[in-house]
Amino acid sequence: MEVWTKYCCGKMMYVTVFSSVILLVIGLAIGLSVNNFKGSDALDSAPLIDGHNDLPFNIYEILNNNLDEFDFTKNLTDDKLWGKKACKSCFTDLPRLRKGKIGAQFWVAYVPCSSQYMDAVQLTMRQIDVIKRLVVKYSNDMQFVTEAKGIEEAWKNKKIGSMIGVEGGHSIDSSLAVLRLYYELGARYMTLTHSCNTPWADASTVNNGSVHNLTEFGEAVVHEMNRLGMLVDLSHVSHNVMRRVLSITKAPVIFSHSSVFSICKIYRNVPDDVLNMVKNNNGVVMVNFYSSFVNCNSGRNATMQDVIDHINYIRKLIGPDHVGIGADYDGVTSVPQGLEDVSKYPDLFDRLYESNVEPRWTKEDLEKLAGRNLIRVFKAVEGVRDSLAKTEHPRQDIINAKDISEDQKAINMKPGLCYTAKEWDGIKSTNKTSQ
Ligand SMILES: *[C@@H]1O[C@H](CO)[C@@H](O)[C@H](O)[C@H]1NC(C)=O
Ligand SMILES: *[C@@H]1O[C@H](CO)[C@@H](O)[C@H](O)[C@H]1NC(C)=O
Ligand SMILES: *[C@@H]1O[C@H](CO)[C@@H](O)[C@H](O)[C@H]1NC(C)=O
Ligand SMILES: *[C@@H]1O[C@H](CO)[C@@H](O)[C@H](O)[C@H]1NC(C)=O
Ligand SMILES: *[C@@H]1O[C@H](CO)[C@@H](O)[C@H](O)[C@H]1NC(C)=O
Ligand SMILES: [Zn+2]
Repeated sequence: MEVWTKYCCGKMMYVTVFSSVILLVIGLAIGLSVNNFKGSDALDSAPLIDGHNDLPFNIYEILNNNLDEFDFTKNLTDDKLWGKKACKSCFTDLPRLRKGKIGAQFWVAYVPCSSQYMDAVQLTMRQIDVIKRLVVKYSNDMQFVTEAKGIEEAWKNKKIGSMIGVEGGHSIDSSLAVLRLYYELGARYMTLTHSCNTPWADASTVNNGSVHNLTEFGEAVVHEMNRLGMLVDLSHVSHNVMRRVLSITKAPVIFSHSSVFSICKIYRNVPDDVLNMVKNNNGVVMVNFYSSFVNCNSGRNATMQDVIDHINYIRKLIGPDHVGIGADYDGVTSVPQGLEDVSKYPDLFDRLYESNVEPRWTKEDLEKLAGRNLIRVFKAVEGVRDSLAKTEHPRQDIINAKDISEDQKAINMKPGLCYTAKEWDGIKSTNKTSQ
């Protein structure tokens, strides 16, 4: 300014002062708009994608999948079937999802481990069917999504992008043919186990031990998922299986609903060495809100701050590119104070932005947490699929029936009772009840 006045006449001085005032006003406006930014505004500039919601299982439990009796457009908070008094694991409806600014959701086709070696495949098909019917019935609010770019398209249409995840390898009944057809039906992730071991992968219930770890057939499952372009979900598997899969997969993996083992030492959570492997793998851990996973053995109730601690821990250890949200609403019976249902995600984002943790959360990092990380992983998985398309063909591995019969014996089931396929011939003759 001093340099300018030296050459300047009265009129020029006036112009200079005037433009300075204008610059000051613009500067203030920019400053104010930055100050006005709320963390939840990041959910307007990037889709919020939740990795895991078990509403479809509640529809099965409560209505045996009869959607005529279900009104998703109603606020169900105090409903006599779906309200919090009647149903301890019910947290979801369209009004609350909208308030929660959900951009896309993986709806989970979960069937209990008690169906393993029995009607798991049929029940899984029913759950895939009910998710598809739900999306059609509520097509004003939901849009079926099977590819990464579909998430952004649905979000631009102001629809909730709706994807299918199959929770538990028991759902394929040890058959790659069934896996492939789930993909054709639109399933885009499979969690390799639920809380039961499959004959080819151990569940987290074996803690840090092992029964089979990941068998050769288990490796074939992972590689077939890589070839198909299906996200490999490592929530629920044992720590050793997490390690093994991360060392053989050709594509980034997800944890659709898992938190941090260092903070809460239950084996459903992810240990630090595995988090570091996820960084190298370019994958994402979507943090579970379940009270017992985020705050264990403390004698107090879980709060939103516990969830924030898990998110911040992952960000600090492996960076903001590998953390996401997988709340597990409708799959659990207790959620933290402040995150009581699916309407509360914006509060979490507001709080993250307000908190003075170092480094502070930026808008860009909040967008990654919300959904950009998951979209990046999904696109990378599609890229691996495309690059394998020329050289790889559908795998024809058949599991050794003996691996299944051993597993059946371990859970006191009569080996081979429900099987008639060729590979069971030898086992049937000795162990099947005669017809
Ligand atoms: C749903 O109903 C509950 C209880 O009446 C109320 O507290 C909440 O604000 C409502 N939510 C929406 C999104 O309408
Ligand atoms: C396995 O878990 C047990 C019990 O939590 C612990 O004592 C042991 O050190 C763990 N072993 C390994 C190799 O992590
Ligand atoms: C499973 O993997 C772990 C870690 O690699 C190893 O220590 C253990 O011996 C394996 N168990 C079996 C049954 O192969
Ligand atoms: C936890 O919350 C429940 C109700 O939400 C309450 O009854 C209980 O006393 C609380 N427990 C503790 C330890 O604060
Ligand atoms: C059949 O069952 C018997 C007794 O449970 C067992 O000893 C045997 O190994 C089984 N045979 C096969 C082929 O699994
Ligand atoms: Zn689960």
